[in-house]
Amino acid sequence: MPLNAMSDGTDNVLELDDIQSGVLRPRPTPYVATYIAFRIDDPKAGRDLMARVSRVVTSAANPTSPLADTWVSVALTYQGLKALGVPQEALESLSWEFRQGMAARAHELGDTGESAPENWEEPLGSSDLHVVLVAVSPDEERLERALDRARETYRSMSGIKAIWRQNCHALPTETEPFGFRDGISHPAIEGSGIPGSNPQERPFKAGAFVLGYRDELGGVQKTTPEILGRNGTYVVFRKLHQRVAAFRQYLKANSTSAADEELLAAKMMGRWRSGAPLALCPFHDDPELGGDPRRNNDFLFEADDPTGLKTPGGSHIRRCNPRDAAIAGVARIHRMIRRGTAYGPMLPEGVMVDDGVDRGLMFAFVGAHIGRQFEFVQSQWVNDGIFFGAGDDKDPIVGAGEINFTLPRKPVRKRLQGIPRFVVTRGGEYCFMPGLRALRWLAELES
Ligand code: HEM
Repeated sequence: MPLNAMSDGTDNVLELDDIQSGVLRPRPTPYVATYIAFRIDDPKAGRDLMARVSRVVTSAANPTSPLADTWVSVALTYQGLKALGVPQEALESLSWEFRQGMAARAHELGDTGESAPENWEEPLGSSDLHVVLVAVSPDEERLERALDRARETYRSMSGIKAIWRQNCHALPTETEPFGFRDGISHPAIEGSGIPGSNPQERPFKAGAFVLGYRDELGGVQKTTPEILGRNGTYVVFRKLHQRVAAFRQYLKANSTSAADEELLAAKMMGRWRSGAPLALCPFHDDPELGGDPRRNNDFLFEADDPTGLKTPGGSHIRRCNPRDAAIAGVARIHRMIRRGTAYGPMLPEGVMVDDGVDRGLMFAFVGAHIGRQFEFVQSQWVNDGIFFGAGDDKDPIVGAGEINFTLPRKPVRKRLQGIPRFVVTRGGEYCFMPGLRALRWLAELES
């Protein structure tokens, strides 16, 4: 698509060849991934890194990568853009939350107590974290081959230091550490040509996920200069430790049979572990439905289940995407793209005691509005219940602090109080993932 077709900045046709592939394209399954964080000690070296990376980052228009089967995405923190020498005026045209950084927003995000930034894994949350590179491959061997080449490059660059690495993987079943199928629900984006997973969900305006296009409220986010923001987006990285043994113990202690445990787990999530949604099979699991991408996300809540007898209003998926459910506010404007990848070995089935091994999810939330999307969902929908009339109830899977959860039932509802915290934040950061032209612009900055 010629650039002039986008001249008013609000056209629906996306410049896919300028958008990093990791923004729009779902990852392959199965896959392994690695996150590498860099500190820039010398702006020139930082710009050189941008130039080199811009040659290997794949655009969303390109189904093949210059690194064979490995796909690379790159994102920068506010401190990283500063370290490259981005002018102040340009920095200030980026989102306010991004400029604060995730650690500064801890209180709003419920990152308190053991999830507080002072307890985060180093150097997460520190001003040393400048660039985050994500490499995704179908298997370990191909990933390591690509990384060997990358290592040679960045180790030879003085002024750049790799300061953190996290390996992750997605199993063929896309099972996350608690045992639920993940990676099911994805929004469709106008002009991307990439389908969403819910045929009943209207595609979203591109500006909800990419800067420079009209969003769901009609606004267009532009930066100064425009090239910096255009076709870029914000990515929220979060390393979330999961207490799998504690989750299993809780299910057992609050159930009368194995079947009852599975039902309680499904009520907390809104889906059975197979991925089958309670909305479509409320009484028993249906693994075939759970694994069928044409059916496993084809549902709404309001007409069929207004009171949450099937899918509780407080369950994880109904909170995080209430779809058409009657809630305070408009659900659509808070929709996010999610890419969750497990880290650490799975706790073997049946083990009820914590083995002390760190495991969980490396989360990446993609969206053009950190405040309206990730921060809103985390603070208002995950850690509060007012929006659907449940007072101070919280998400029973990922909520923080004192967690209560209400299970609508007939004749009387069941209320679970004092649910332990199953997910602890180990760290994270707000990043900006520039378009490919912006990466080259960053590479050519002058001091
Ligand atoms: C370790 C923590 C978490 C686990 C284990 C987890 C697990 C899951 C699973 C299994 C699903 C269903 C699969 C799917 O719809 O693709 C899901 C959906 C979702 N989660 Fe999480 N999640 C976690 C944290 C979060 C957080 C912190 C947020 C938001 C701040 C979030 C937002 C969402 C959203 C938006 C959906 C899609 C709901 C839908 O469209 O139906 N998740 N999560």
